[in-house]
Amino acid sequence: MSRQHTVLWELFRPSSVAVVGASRHPGKVGHSILRNLVASYKGKIYPVNPLAKQILGLKCYPRLTAIPDSVDMAVIAIPAPKVPDVVCDACKKGVKVSVIISSGFSEVGNHELERRVVETAKSCGMRIVGPNVFGVIYTPIGLNATFGPPEVPRGSVAVITQSGALGLALLYRFMGVKGLGFSAMLSLGNMSDIDFADAIWVLGEDEHTRVIALYVEGLRPLRGRAFIEAARHAAKKKPIVAIKAGRSKRGSKAVASHTGSMAGDVSIYQAAFRKAGVFMVRSLSGLLDASLLFSLQPIPPQPWRGVMIVTNGGGLGVLAVDAMEELGVTLAKLSPETRSKIRSMLPWFASTLNPIDTTASITTDTYLEVLHAAVDAPDASAVLAMFAELPNMKGEELAKGMEDILRHARERGKPLLLVYVGKHEIFYQFAAEGIPVYESPYEAAEALHALEWYVRWRAKHAQ
Ligand code: COA
Repeated sequence: MSRQHTVLWELFRPSSVAVVGASRHPGKVGHSILRNLVASYKGKIYPVNPLAKQILGLKCYPRLTAIPDSVDMAVIAIPAPKVPDVVCDACKKGVKVSVIISSGFSEVGNHELERRVVETAKSCGMRIVGPNVFGVIYTPIGLNATFGPPEVPRGSVAVITQSGALGLALLYRFMGVKGLGFSAMLSLGNMSDIDFADAIWVLGEDEHTRVIALYVEGLRPLRGRAFIEAARHAAKKKPIVAIKAGRSKRGSKAVASHTGSMAGDVSIYQAAFRKAGVFMVRSLSGLLDASLLFSLQPIPPQPWRGVMIVTNGGGLGVLAVDAMEELGVTLAKLSPETRSKIRSMLPWFASTLNPIDTTASITTDTYLEVLHAAVDAPDASAVLAMFAELPNMKGEELAKGMEDILRHARERGKPLLLVYVGKHEIFYQFAAEGIPVYESPYEAAEALHALEWYVRWRAKHAQ
C-alpha cells in the first residue's frame, strides 16, 4: 500500500477527533455529531466552539489550534463561508483528514469556495472528505462522526455513498430489520478530494469488511482509471456491489444538481464496473439483498455448480426458477446419487428434480433432514431453502433446527439462503441468527445472481 493510502487510513482509524461547530444546542448538526462520538468512540474527542466552555461534559476549545494534543481528524459543521479559515487552522494543527459536513459549495455553484478549501488542504498534505456529507462511521472503533443515529449495528458491510441522506436512510431502514450490520459508512458528497477510488483502496484492505456497497452518481473527471484499479484490487479479495444513479436522461440532470457530478453514459459505467469486478444492481433492495448474502455467507470455490433449491411449496419453487432464469442464475444439475438419497427421505409424490419439492405433507424435521443433505451434496455451489409456514410446518420449529444447518453449511463453506413466507416475528429471528433471509424468491435470486457473477469474475481475475 502506498503512503497516500496509509494516510487515508486515518479516515477510519483516527486516534483523536475534533468537532468544529460542536453546538451547545441539541438538535443542531454539530451537537448530534458530538453526541454520537461521545456515545461510542474510543479515541480522544475535542469539541471546538468559541462560545462554549464545555459541551456534553467535555472541555471546549475556541479553535483547532488551541487544542494542546495532536488531532487526526477534524469534523467541520459550521456555515460554508467560515470553512476556509477552519481548514487553514486544521493545516496548522497537522490534522490528517478533514470531514466537511457543511453544504453550500460546488453543488450550488460555489466552485471558488470549494477550490480554496482543496488548495489549502493540498498545500499541507491534508485529505478532505466532502464537502456536503453526513460524515463517516467505522464500527470496530466505535467511530460515528455523523449526525445520524447514535447506534449503528456492527457487521461487515462497508457502504460508500455519494448521497448522504440516502446513506442515513439506509441506516435507519435496515437497522435491526434484516440482520445487516455495518463495518463502515462513508458519505462522499461533492468528492472534492477523497473519492470512490480512495475509499475502495482502504476498505479493500480492511479486515472487518467483507463486502463493499456503493451508491454512485458519477465518478470524478479523469478518475475512471483509478477507480478501476482500486476496485479490481479490492474485488480480488472481497465482493463490491454498486447501484448507479442517473441512468435516465432526467436522472442524470438530477445528479448534476445534487452533488455537482456528471452522471455520464450508463453503458460506460456498466463496462467499467464489469472490468473492475463491481457487480451492478438495479435497485436499492438489490444492493441490500446482495450485501446481506455476501456479509453473512462464505464465497464458494470455483467452479460454479449452480444453486440447489429445497422448497416445501411448489409455487415458491416455480417463482424462484422464473426469477433465476430471468436473471441468468444457474440451477444445479443434481446427480442420481443425490437424488436417490433425498428421494429416500420423501414421499413418492415429492419431486427430486431441482427445485426439490418436499411437498407440504412432511414434517419440519424431514424438511431439515433434506436441507442437511442438500448442503452436503457436492452438486451445488449454494443452497436456497424456501419455507412456507403451514399448519403442520411451523416457523418456530424451522428456526430451532436452522441453527445447526447453518453451522453445518458454514463448516462446508457453502452459502445458504432462506426465503421465509410466514410470521414476521420469525422472519426477524432468522435475521438475528445471521441467516440471510428474504421475503420473496426474487430477492433471493438477485442476491444469488450477484454471487454467481462474482465467483465467475474472481475465477478469471484473481491470480
Ligand atoms: N469554529 C467553531 N465553532 C463555530 C465557528 C467556528 N469558526 N463558527 C460558529 N461556530 C459554532 C456556532 O456558535 C454554533 O454553536 P452554538 O449553536 O453553540 O452557538 C455551531 O458552531 C454551529 O454554527 P451555526 O452558525 O449555528 O450553524 P448551524 O448549526 O445552523 O449550521 C451547518 C451549520 C454545517 C449544519 C449548515 O451550515 C449546513 O451546511 N447544513 C447542511 C448540512 C448537510 O445537510 N450536509 C450534507 C448532509 S448529506
